[in-house]
Amino acid sequence: MYVSMKEMLWHACANKYAVMAINCTDMEQARAICYAAAAECAPVIIDISPRQMKAHATPEVMVPMIRAIAEPLDVPVALNLDHGGEYKDIVRCIKAGFSSVMVDASSYDFEENVRRVSQIVALAHAHGVSVEAELGHVGQAAAGDGRSADMYTNVEQAREFVERTGCDCLAVAIGTAHGAYPDDFVPHLDFDRLAELKEALKMPLVLHGGSGAGEENIRRVVELGINKINVCTDLFKHQRKAMHDKLNEQPSIDYMDIQMHGEQAATEYIRAYMRMIGSSNRYQFDFTGEDFD
Ligand code: 13P
Repeated sequence: MYVSMKEMLWHACANKYAVMAINCTDMEQARAICYAAAAECAPVIIDISPRQMKAHATPEVMVPMIRAIAEPLDVPVALNLDHGGEYKDIVRCIKAGFSSVMVDASSYDFEENVRRVSQIVALAHAHGVSVEAELGHVGQAAAGDGRSADMYTNVEQAREFVERTGCDCLAVAIGTAHGAYPDDFVPHLDFDRLAELKEALKMPLVLHGGSGAGEENIRRVVELGINKINVCTDLFKHQRKAMHDKLNEQPSIDYMDIQMHGEQAATEYIRAYMRMIGSSNRYQFDFTGEDFD
């Protein structure tokens, strides 16, 4: 099934689990993500960032490919623009058929963030596309971001922001950052703030910078109300290492075989992560019966 993030994340919110949102740049990753979801009976979100879409993952190519993979499956798959900053990128993705877009105006002041998100919400909702926004700012792990509470999401502002913008889910800053942390540093997360945000907003919340955040932290944020977890760096690293090791072991391996080896490694990683965040076995259908019970 190819769906927007809206119903999927409200289901996760009502049932207290999280959905994996995974960056994707090619067919092997798209297949790994969708087939892992099907094998786990789990919902999933495919994220493509503006950098990825400009370098390699062209929206007009990725959308029909992902739809072709996702539509025959019995699990919901959403395709989301990750960190959409420029208006023209967001519109391009909506036109190409993304089922969801993120408007990241988190570097702007509160009013400008509200203005930009509201404008996209009106446009996107008219096309059945869901919208993610970010308040507070999730920065870069390499720059030491995430350690300063100055960037964290303010609870009162969040309440007003959601009311005024009508966004479908909100990315919150509680101590994670994007990319690899230096020297295996494990971030210290503000769980109290997350609990307050969930209590105030009672809506799907998003955690960016899932890589390197630590399994205990991830399990705890899911308990406290995170419903979408973005993962990129760790999965790409895992897949690259698996392909690199295979090439070392078998230097003359066929090109397609090395692609498939990478896909298999990604699938296994994603399945294990889905089980950890509670999204496995959420969409089990029985199509074998012939009539109502
Ligand atoms: P990581 O690369 O740290 O997993 O972050 C991914 C992300 O948040 C994409 O929006």
